[in-house]
Amino acid sequence: MPSVSPIARHCARAASDQLPGVEHYIAVCASSKLLPVPLVPEVTIYAAENAYDVWEITRLGDDADEPPVPYWSFPWAGGQALARHLLDHPELVRGRRVLDLAAGSGLVAIAAMKAGARSAVANDVDPFAAAAQEMNARANETTIEISQRDMLDETVTANQFDLVVAGDVCYERRLTDRLIAFLRRAKENGVDVLLADPGRAYLPRHQLDEIASYDVATTLALEGVEGKRTTIWTPVTDCD
Ligand SMILES: C[S@@+](CC[C@H](N)C(=O)[O-])C[C@H]1O[C@@H](n2cnc3c(N)ncnc32)[C@H](O)[C@@H]1O
Repeated sequence: MPSVSPIARHCARAASDQLPGVEHYIAVCASSKLLPVPLVPEVTIYAAENAYDVWEITRLGDDADEPPVPYWSFPWAGGQALARHLLDHPELVRGRRVLDLAAGSGLVAIAAMKAGARSAVANDVDPFAAAAQEMNARANETTIEISQRDMLDETVTANQFDLVVAGDVCYERRLTDRLIAFLRRAKENGVDVLLADPGRAYLPRHQLDEIASYDVATTLALEGVEGKRTTIWTPVTDCD
């Protein structure tokens, strides 16, 4: 059987799937350190000690649409609570196919695999996030699938995934609206759904049922407070 070099395989995947380029991996390595996640110490991720240093390295230009902080380089309060929840309730993921939407570092997808998921897809449109997810999965000796396309206008069904999770995504109105609509459609199609949120501006509480909550330590530099109560929700649908 002919052997394909890992570099050739990567190039082929990169060309067909728009996977991150080598510059994205180098930027993640150069700008962050492998650190344990405070609420989830069984997972380590490449995380920034200073958001603004990372941003200087990874920003692509002066585009006003670029995020104000490199989202992949922190375990956000929502992601931490969700990862903790899955590890403490492995029955939610054991043997199941999980989609981690707007995955950032990939923390929640990695926690799902550690808790016994059959597979986990980390989806995020930021190529630096995709590079970080792959490196973080390796650092935690697990494998996750990485998807970079914007899938928020799609509908996923129980043929594709058993559980969709999303951590800390309600910080922009347009993103929140698209994401909540995606999660509702998934639930209406038989997929279990969990959303974790530390009280962001656009969280539509009236459309959600509370499942659990966690106290998550945060930094003054990033959040302006030293902790955030973070709640795990599931959308209410017309089927409920
Ligand atoms: C605040 S971060 C949360 C990351 C992670 N879930 C956590 O809790 O640590 C939000 C993420 O949403 C991603 N994002 C924004 N728009 C997206 C879209 N249309 N599809 C997928 N991800 C998106 C950003 O790139 C960013 O990584």
